[in-house]
Amino acid sequence: MPHRTLILGLESSCDDTAAAVVLNGRHILSNIISSQNDLHHRFGGIVPEIASRRHLEMINPVIDEALAKGGVTFGELEGIAVSHGPGLVGSLLVGVATAKALSFALDLPLIAVNHIEGHIYANFLTGAAIIFPILCLVVSGGHTSLIYMRDHGELSVIGRTRDDAAGEVFDKVARALSLGFPGGPAIEKLAQCGDPSAFSFPRALMSEEGKLDFSFSGLKTAVLNFMRREKEKGSVKMEDLAAAFQEAVVDVLVEKTTLALRQYPARQLLLAGGVAANSELRRRMRRRMVEEGVEFISPPPQLCTDNGAMIGAAGYYALRRGRLASPTLNAVSTLALESV
Ligand code: KG4
Ligand code: ZN
Repeated sequence: MPHRTLILGLESSCDDTAAAVVLNGRHILSNIISSQNDLHHRFGGIVPEIASRRHLEMINPVIDEALAKGGVTFGELEGIAVSHGPGLVGSLLVGVATAKALSFALDLPLIAVNHIEGHIYANFLTGAAIIFPILCLVVSGGHTSLIYMRDHGELSVIGRTRDDAAGEVFDKVARALSLGFPGGPAIEKLAQCGDPSAFSFPRALMSEEGKLDFSFSGLKTAVLNFMRREKEKGSVKMEDLAAAFQEAVVDVLVEKTTLALRQYPARQLLLAGGVAANSELRRRMRRRMVEEGVEFISPPPQLCTDNGAMIGAAGYYALRRGRLASPTLNAVSTLALESV
């Protein structure tokens, strides 16, 4: 590998069109994100057809901007990395088709990155020295997974949600509260002025000894039913509701992560994915990791949510291992996270 390896990272798995130039898997030269929040806001969730159409319009301008901001030409790149799943298939296809075309036209290696693995690699862009084995908690709109990583490309999913993802529940509760989309930041803001002990919501699967799986649909139903009942009375304070809900999610994430460390010892915990932007989750997880003697690492909030830099970082380490994709690469909406 050359001394200076520049990777173009492309991400279009959901509702953000993103491209970034990353140097040696560690340094961001540019990171451009075209958000679709304005488009989907009024629907209270992502409309897949609208998302893929907007990706198609935005992908080339976003790539041009990433190269310009990074002061890099196509000729200086060493590889094109793209997130090829999991996600919305129509959205993923835009990134995958673009990456394949660029790789063919420029005669550059094509690198396929699992989106969840990409989230973990956002931590490699923080400047922290990562020491394997590590425990990772990825919490996003589509996933809630505990992952034990022994080395690059050697990972096991040791716990996952059996129903809704944590971010999905934030979005659904926010929608019921008419807070728009995405719901996480809005709930977090509301919760800052609320009392988390005002109500008590269920924490699922907490008593099952040793079980590292999550379940959030019972919490969602409990919150929605509670709101329906209390709305009629008109007495409930929305800030308290948001704080009590957020506390229930954070409690489960912190406890399960601690439980996982007992079975899968690690010196570092990496927190990633959109929900990792939540300051209450970061505060509580950091405090618990101090108690456990484990180093807590998490990307800054803007690298927690979907971006191209995390794909570029993961792509660099895949390229170093010679893990190249074939020109027939396809988008896989349900792509599993496996050791490669
Ligand atoms: O990683 P991401 O950008 O996309 C997926 O891969 O799903 O995550 C988006 C999710 C959304 O559900 C959003 O509500 C949630 O992350 N999120 C948050 C916060 N910021 C984003 N959840 C809680 N608190 C936040 N501050
Ligand atoms: Zn994501």
